[in-house]
Amino acid sequence: MKIGVLGAGMMTESLAAGWIRAGHDVLIGGRTPEKAEALAKRIGARAGTLRDAAEFGDSVLVAVRREGLEETLAAAGGALAGKPVIDCGNAVDVSDFSQVTYQDGASMAEEIARLAPGAHVVKAFNQAHASVWAMTPPAVDGRPLAVPFAGDEEAKPAARTLITDLGAEPLDAGDLRQARNLEAMAIVVIRLLFSGYDPHSVFAFASPGRTAEAFTSR
Ligand SMILES: NC(=O)c1ccc[n+]([C@@H]2O[C@H](COP(=O)([O-])OP(=O)(O)OC[C@H]3O[C@@H](n4cnc5c(N)ncnc54)[C@H](OP(=O)(O)O)[C@@H]3O)[C@@H](O)[C@H]2O)c1
Repeated sequence: MKIGVLGAGMMTESLAAGWIRAGHDVLIGGRTPEKAEALAKRIGARAGTLRDAAEFGDSVLVAVRREGLEETLAAAGGALAGKPVIDCGNAVDVSDFSQVTYQDGASMAEEIARLAPGAHVVKAFNQAHASVWAMTPPAVDGRPLAVPFAGDEEAKPAARTLITDLGAEPLDAGDLRQARNLEAMAIVVIRLLFSGYDPHSVFAFASPGRTAEAFTSR
């Protein structure tokens, strides 16, 4: 698949490197051309403008900080219309690690759908740190990482492919409205981490790997 990436930061470095290992062709578009070029060189991708990346991709990853979202999508122009657009962002206010939402409580993924009319938006990859996405394959306690994703049905096959090709397990979490929950989950975890807590101290289970069946049967 041809994958365009908007953003040349940590998440792009981890995710795009994995997709290149899986045989995909990646073009990284950055606000800062030298950064995009240096990153592309490091991982074996191509580099270009944000618009180049939006036009290049059969699917497009949006991997920017929330402060740059509007500017990034404006630079991509109308090139995202009709394409799967995967959003890995977390709209977090780093002054207090609170969640930033958009009109009527909308998620960042819904904001992308609003700013890029016709794009088929899916939220994915926002739950784990960039260092986890750099693992081959991403894993937790030796088990494959499950990756919840939510969004437009038309883009879900591409999202599944991109998750599976990293060696992780796709977990359908519903329509685009459910992106609100995925973003809220991630922000709770981010706040815990920056408050000095291990998220496992909150999301605790009696033993790793227990499923709902195990709980109901005791
Ligand atoms: N890092 C993680 O572990 C992690 C995990 C899950 C989700 N996320 C989310 O994934 C997204 C990308 O994270 P990241 O760690 O890759 O971010 P990053 O390395 O800090 O930056 C990603 C890109 O955002 C652009 N950017 C930053 N501020 C901007 C602004 N004001 N205007 C325009 N562009 C701006 C940067 O442009 P330049 O190239 O010009 O600097 C950079 O290319 C974020 O929404 C983050 O919350 C991150």
